[in-house]
Amino acid sequence: MSWKPKPSATTDPASLDGLAHEDTGHAGPWCTEEMKQRWRDTIMPKYPTSHGALMPILHDLQDHYRCIPFQAMVELARFLEIPPSEVLDTVSFYEEYHSEPVGRCVVAICQSIACEVCGHAALERQLRSKLDLEPHETDDEGRFTLLQLECLGSCDTAPVALFNDELLEQLTMEQVDSLIDELREVPLERLDRDTVREIVRRHGTTQHGRSPYDG
Ligand code: FES
Repeated sequence: MSWKPKPSATTDPASLDGLAHEDTGHAGPWCTEEMKQRWRDTIMPKYPTSHGALMPILHDLQDHYRCIPFQAMVELARFLEIPPSEVLDTVSFYEEYHSEPVGRCVVAICQSIACEVCGHAALERQLRSKLDLEPHETDDEGRFTLLQLECLGSCDTAPVALFNDELLEQLTMEQVDSLIDELREVPLERLDRDTVREIVRRHGTTQHGRSPYDG
């Protein structure tokens, strides 16, 4: 099996400065003045150090661009006054962050032991076939990305999968079919995080009735 490693701190951040992201066609700046002001007003006051604000700001950036390109990491490091390698290390360590563009709906199925015992393999086969994707692939129109993740912390309601930030519990084949069908029918430009969340919640039990991103 060959592995495609995520970029890590072994990449020289200085060499990334000024690099526009080829796949997005966006020349930057990625961290706009409006974003910075919002982070100063709503995120940074919650943390005693700028390091604490790093992960929520990365989520915000990723929500906006559907990835965190290298240039955005460099700009964010400047804004937070921390080394670029620390931003790069954080993005490369966590599976939830993507340095390449992903689909508007990221389907991440849990493959750890409780979900494995409760039939994750059949569900994953169904997702691969339904989406015509292998894990870590994104479709051509940028609608779906399929991922495999380790334990999502909901073993008592296995098998589970994340649809963006919404955890769907006790997932069944029927739910996979109907959910993917409905997500496919939404015009691509309307398929944002709120729309995905609303549709997923209509199809089953999610995060004991609440999203981790709810207040
Ligand atoms: S093993 Fe799947 S949520 Fe824990």
